[in-house]
Amino acid sequence: MGASSPAGHSSSGSSQSSLPLLAKRLLTFALYALVPLALLHCLLNQQHLPRLPDLITAATSSFSPTPPPPPPEPEPEAPPNVAAAAPAACDYSDGEWVRTAEGPRYNGTSCAGTIRDGQNCMAHGRPDTGYLHWRWRPRRCALPPFDPAAFLDLLRGRHVVFAGDSLARNQCESLVCMLASAFPAEPVRDGGAGAGGWEDGRRPRRWEFPSHGARVSVFWSPFLVNGKERSGEPGDEHHRLYLEQPDERWAAELPVADVVVLAAGHWFSHQALYYDAGGAVVGCHFCPDPNMTDTGFFGAFRLAIRNTLREVVARAGGGGGRPKLAVVTTFPPAHFEGDWDSPRACARTEPYSPEERPEEGGMDVEMWRAGAEEAAAAAAGAEAAARGVTVEALQVTRLAGLRPDGHPGVYMKASPFAGGVPERVRNDCLHWCLPGPIDTWNEILLQILRRWAHASSTSAAP
Ligand SMILES: *[C@@H]1O[C@H](CO)[C@@H](O)[C@H](O)[C@H]1NC(C)=O
Ligand SMILES: *[C@@H]1O[C@H](CO)[C@@H](O)[C@H](O)[C@H]1NC(C)=O
Repeated sequence: MGASSPAGHSSSGSSQSSLPLLAKRLLTFALYALVPLALLHCLLNQQHLPRLPDLITAATSSFSPTPPPPPPEPEPEAPPNVAAAAPAACDYSDGEWVRTAEGPRYNGTSCAGTIRDGQNCMAHGRPDTGYLHWRWRPRRCALPPFDPAAFLDLLRGRHVVFAGDSLARNQCESLVCMLASAFPAEPVRDGGAGAGGWEDGRRPRRWEFPSHGARVSVFWSPFLVNGKERSGEPGDEHHRLYLEQPDERWAAELPVADVVVLAAGHWFSHQALYYDAGGAVVGCHFCPDPNMTDTGFFGAFRLAIRNTLREVVARAGGGGGRPKLAVVTTFPPAHFEGDWDSPRACARTEPYSPEERPEEGGMDVEMWRAGAEEAAAAAAGAEAAARGVTVEALQVTRLAGLRPDGHPGVYMKASPFAGGVPERVRNDCLHWCLPGPIDTWNEILLQILRRWAHASSTSAAP
């Protein structure tokens, strides 16, 4: 079976009905999208402030009227090819945050060398600590606290590769910090944390856990597929995405990767040109030429995930090779409220209460669906099974969306209020404080790993 739903915008043919609803959604999207898009643009580029009017025009005109998405279904977990008592599959995406007395396994001091400067909220003086005392409780199953020994036992002699944007790095650093809270980690290829420079964030990093012969690596690849990032110079204002080509910066690592975690998405909302295998432009977002039709980016994102998973499968060993696990982390929403450069743009100290919880929709849900559906389609493919590749979605969109309190905000920099409270200030309401809610992504990753290891050990041994 192929993907169960049409790619990207190809479903817009049936959008004639329910106009009021559509209009409402467009409005919601516009309100929801403009400020975040502007700030995301800024955060992701770490450059100057965006020109808002450009973005407004672009964002409103580029949202092509797809029918409102159905409410996000709990994706049935892709069945690993195993019969008997695997740990039960669970829909971790559905649940609630509950208070817990327990705190995180690490802090901004104990893991300072690993945590990237902009996410070390503790070291930067974030005064509240309540955000560290919440656990995600899935509705229909248990999510045990992170267990470094269990994780590393499953990883013995194996290698986890994170590929994606700065949120992949954020998730990777959370994992390394949690593992290193119990077993020493040795950085072997270290872009250097703490320097804070933008280029720094693009260097590959790798850690070894000698106790278990396990490795964790992270590679910069904001589109997953091959892409040339724009320079911003005149004539080079668009990213160029070669959707049919793998990004060898991390894909070259596939032969020695056992677990691949793919985490990307936010960069897709930038202006970009999309190319096919022959080098022809097949689409664009914020197109450079008024004669070109803006295709939006949902379709490009889907193709990037689809082609990336296809590449992971194609490069897997087959019969004699070791089984592989590919995990797609679904889109984590950002939280900007009010003026994005206000000191209170994301100054909440608690998760949304059920009453505050915003309606899910817009870009978050489209991106969530793209990741989850492409993972499910790849998992169901005969090729994946034949080559021993298990594909899973790590569905964090909802649980992340409920945590506006988990971002660095103004604490992306040290002591932001040392000289008094400024009127305008840079905020990071996109990445996650370490420690913080993103640690939960890796608690779920451990459960996915458990089920995979169980399935691998009970299916026909290689
Ligand atoms: C951080 O963790 C270390 C080691 O567990 C501990 O000694 C230290 O007191 C903690 N620091 C803070 C600020 O919580
Ligand atoms: C865009 O369309 C106009 C009118 O059809 C045409 O004159 C112009 O040459 C086109 N521009 C490009 C770059 O194709």
